[in-house]
Amino acid sequence: MSETKSQAPKKLFIKTYGCQMNVYDSERMAESLEGYVPTDTAEDADMILLNTCHIREKAAEKVYSELGRLKPLKALNPDLKIGVTGCVAQAEGEEIIRRQPAVDLVVGPQSYHRLPQMEARVRTGKTALDTDFPEEDKFNHLKGRGQKARRAPAAFLTVQEGCDKFCAFCVVPYTRGAEVSRPAEQVVREAQELVERGVREVTLLGQNVNAYHGGKTLAELIRMLAKVDGLERIRYTTSHPNDMDDDLIAAHADTPELMPYLHLPVQSGSDRILKRMNRKHTAESYLRLIEKIRSVRPDIMMSGDFIVGFPEETEADFQATMDLVEEVNYGYAYSFKYSTRPGTPAAERPQVDPAEADERLQRLQALISRQQYAIQESMVGRELSVLIERAGRQDGQMLGKSEYLHSVHIDNATAQIGDVVRVRCTRAMTNSLTAVEV
Ligand code: SAH
Ligand code: SF4
Ligand code: F3S
Repeated sequence: MSETKSQAPKKLFIKTYGCQMNVYDSERMAESLEGYVPTDTAEDADMILLNTCHIREKAAEKVYSELGRLKPLKALNPDLKIGVTGCVAQAEGEEIIRRQPAVDLVVGPQSYHRLPQMEARVRTGKTALDTDFPEEDKFNHLKGRGQKARRAPAAFLTVQEGCDKFCAFCVVPYTRGAEVSRPAEQVVREAQELVERGVREVTLLGQNVNAYHGGKTLAELIRMLAKVDGLERIRYTTSHPNDMDDDLIAAHADTPELMPYLHLPVQSGSDRILKRMNRKHTAESYLRLIEKIRSVRPDIMMSGDFIVGFPEETEADFQATMDLVEEVNYGYAYSFKYSTRPGTPAAERPQVDPAEADERLQRLQALISRQQYAIQESMVGRELSVLIERAGRQDGQMLGKSEYLHSVHIDNATAQIGDVVRVRCTRAMTNSLTAVEV
């Protein structure tokens, strides 16, 4: 019994929280661990990694309660090792092992290229901790992307990490460190590897992706990637309004591979609050920027992030946010209630009554939902292009994403996974569209 077990590949279960960068990191970590196959359930895993997020309150508490739930699994499988990775690992470090001794391994987002050595160490019964911001480039130490079998047609590709902006509410500059960009050639090589595995669309990721400066600007990198044979679509996220330069705007007009979708968080529509948030832009400058982008790409789908109930936000400040949303007309938007993050400047300031903040959040979300749905309805009757990502539940049904990132169901599809097809939209549903091939 035990002999068969030692010969079988070990099983790896990764639970990913937080942003797309964590999704990307989870993939890279899984690829780096030799001798493991992925599993969807914690119960049969020999290694569990919680890839955590620290952006909002209670993140660390959630991780500790999840660890408490996982701990008994160690009694059932003596080979089981448990690791914490991501931004809570960075923020809490060895405190995690102190509070939950069932944890074998803690590794931060900038040092997970050392995971294979750490895995070997924990297999000898020791614990392993690494929350350095190392000198070396982790991407030079990770294996190429060609290891595993065919991939889904859409993939994330991290090109920039960290943040130097220090918005008054945000932990990212502390958990991910200073802005660092990957060299453009390294990114292009990774994109080529992904295309060889069947990828047709990449989303370039960065905490401030448009601050990219890997020997090229983001616009230049996008144009380099547009030349990669077989790579049909390029997206990027998340952008900061202050780093949206003219050439990047021009790329939206001159590079057909660049999809007409832009996630450009503004956080608030009130200049008083924006100043307190240390955003270094105004509501007006944001609106003029969108005007400029729409003048070269009128159909661009706008998306954003909002925080309501930031310290000292009044009803008038909130109304300014509602007015800004009305003016922009978002295809998508994400809104969050302000969450106090110890160690950030805003944590020390007079807080808004939580009930008041909840009520504002509901009003904002209702407005955003109305805009999203109206835009989806406006797609009905229009031709769209869809990258087919997977088969649907019904026979002949295929699912994919439009250029505007809407989920699209195609009935009676002839196209295959990985194809980009022209369709006509027939119906708007709450979270998706239906369409037929044209
Ligand atoms: N670098 C990106 C994303 C940062 S985190 C950017 O600047 O846009 C993603 C979103 O989480 C932010 O845009 C913000 O809306 C939200 N967020 C960050 N810190 C928060 C906090 N303390 N409370 C509530 N929402 C927060
Ligand atoms: Fe956080 Fe602001 Fe940096 Fe975005 S730009 S990661 S919100 S500090
Ligand atoms: Fe969360 Fe870290 Fe991303 S705090 S949002 S996982 S950068």
